[in-house]
Amino acid sequence: MKHIVLGISGGIAAYKSAELLRLLMKQGHSVQVVMTEAACHFISPTTLQALSGRPVYLDQWDERTPNNMAHINLGREADAIVIAPASADFIAKLAHGMADDLLSTLCLARNCPLMIAPAMNREMWQNKATARNIAQLTSDGVEILGPGTGLQACGETGMGRMLEPSELAEHIISSSQPKLFLGKKFLITAGPTYEAIDPVRGITNQSSGKMGYAIARAARESGAEVVLVSGPVSLATPVNVRRINVKSAEEMRDAVMREVAACDIFISVAAVADYRVANRSFQKIKKGSSALTLELVANPDILAEVAALEHPPYCVGFAAESENLAEHAEQKRRAKRLPLLVGNIAQDAIGQDDNELVLFDEQGSYPLPRADKLTLARQLMQHIALRHIGARK
Ligand code: C5P
Repeated sequence: MKHIVLGISGGIAAYKSAELLRLLMKQGHSVQVVMTEAACHFISPTTLQALSGRPVYLDQWDERTPNNMAHINLGREADAIVIAPASADFIAKLAHGMADDLLSTLCLARNCPLMIAPAMNREMWQNKATARNIAQLTSDGVEILGPGTGLQACGETGMGRMLEPSELAEHIISSSQPKLFLGKKFLITAGPTYEAIDPVRGITNQSSGKMGYAIARAARESGAEVVLVSGPVSLATPVNVRRINVKSAEEMRDAVMREVAACDIFISVAAVADYRVANRSFQKIKKGSSALTLELVANPDILAEVAALEHPPYCVGFAAESENLAEHAEQKRRAKRLPLLVGNIAQDAIGQDDNELVLFDEQGSYPLPRADKLTLARQLMQHIALRHIGARK
């Protein structure tokens, strides 16, 4: 868990910082609040002190720090500094390396990542001076979160709203994930496949794609390049992930085979249909009075094919079982010659936001208790890193 300095500068969005603080703490992070004098006109330090359970720091002459070096000490303890809201004035200060109050001095003296969440009137955001300052901070390596667009406190509508606390918390948590896979390339399949019977009918599996998409996101957060081969799902593509849309198992196989040579780790999360219709009709089949017989032929087993390549990537399979998970999963892992297989109980997992997994590898089995799919995906990244590249948390 991380220690975050939450810097609050003067803007009406400061009232939302209390919610951001709570969300970060709920995720197990500790948060030290530092405010500018202007921020205190919008939200009281007492509120933030009560919520964070720590004294709030306001100025560089604070006598509570033993060596009178709050600007150094507070920054040294932090894994990241987040300024939310970051006013136009504070952004200008940062861009010029000014250090005339505790928060700006802290930012200048930092040795950890800095993220800012701009919040201001739309004209102020569009002003060339602000644009120049933001460009400067971006090239200095500062991460700019937002701003969003919508109704502003001044009554105008446009760009400049601070992102919502939940969005900010997500950004902060995802950018503070350990970069376990820098320089590595992941290929991930997700979702169901759809095997057409005719132009309007088809055979598919139940799969929302949520687990595969969470894994793609977790891999990306860990610093990897990620290609996601996705069957038909209604999910947003995770940020900075390259997505290839496919429908049938054969299309999925072709896409995987085109991409696999360049990848280091292949995670097959897709619920691939085991069979397709032998002679799909290109015209709609008319309803007859008697029964309709379909001839089904086996689809290629994409994962088994990848695992059998001469130089396979590190292959991770999934097994959704309805019973006897350990037995079926371990059997599947051996049959497909996989270093790692992730098992789950199908009826617990499909379409849900949370899940419960068991990892099976050469060294044993590792249960991951019930949690949301992104948390599980991050734990899976840690396990793969440990096994595949010997990296630690
Ligand atoms: O269907 P089965 O239980 O064998 O699936 C186990 C693993 O194999 C999963 O990771 C799934 O994505 C993969 N698979 C595949 N191609 C298939 C069937 C399954 O890649 N035709």
